Amino acid sequence: MRAEFAIIGGTGVYEPGWLEGAKRVDVETPYGTAHVVVGRYKDKRIAFLPRHGVGHQLPPHRVNYRANIAALQKLGVTQVLATGAVGTLTTRCRPGSLVMVDGFIDFTKARAGTFFDGEGEVVHVDMSDPYCGRLRKALAATAETLGIELYPTGTYVCTEGPRFETPAEIRFFQAIGGTVVGMTSVPEVVLAKEAQMCYATVCMVTNWAAGLTPRPLTHEEVVAEMRRNVDRLRQLFFATLEG
Ligand code: HPA
Repeated sequence: MRAEFAIIGGTGVYEPGWLEGAKRVDVETPYGTAHVVVGRYKDKRIAFLPRHGVGHQLPPHRVNYRANIAALQKLGVTQVLATGAVGTLTTRCRPGSLVMVDGFIDFTKARAGTFFDGEGEVVHVDMSDPYCGRLRKALAATAETLGIELYPTGTYVCTEGPRFETPAEIRFFQAIGGTVVGMTSVPEVVLAKEAQMCYATVCMVTNWAAGLTPRPLTHEEVVAEMRRNVDRLRQLFFATLEG
């Protein structure tokens, strides 16, 4: 089973029926097994990878990022469109917005974040352009054609989770130039880069970050906002794959 393109997302991004001849494939890797759906869309072979697993919803700090990316590599994937829910740190991007990030700041603490972890050569991968410029251009052009509002740049602050942030942390993240805050982009983007894939992320802004509104932040609020926006995102991804 081969695929050139992949979509990484949560439930809702992939709906059965979008891919022709879709088959579930359990891909074995040195890091564990990843569960992927592979099928065809128009003339392209696409792999869909539910980041948090199938059935069991792994929390962000327990996701097997290495198995996920290694599995895509094994299938032959070279281009990845990823998405995830984020909180916004700025009034520029309100809940409901789509933000294509072009940088990240890493506050994760205890994740297996590299393939270059063994006895072999020492590798320091370049992170000057972590999210693929070519795919970002394609996504921006498609969004414009479809009339979908998409913020073309932004800095993703990645926290360890699974707890949400404190208001003091959010003020700090604002001060250091963050645009959105989430829990999944790192190490996924790093591993994709190490695997020499072209990888881009469009974030769905689901909420104001903690402390920016007087109300406490809930997981239910995040899920509800994601449901409202997933159609637009799916449209954007599939139209980009067509191009
Ligand atoms: N913080 C961290 N991760 C998130 C948030 C948030 O506010 N919203 C959705 N994922």
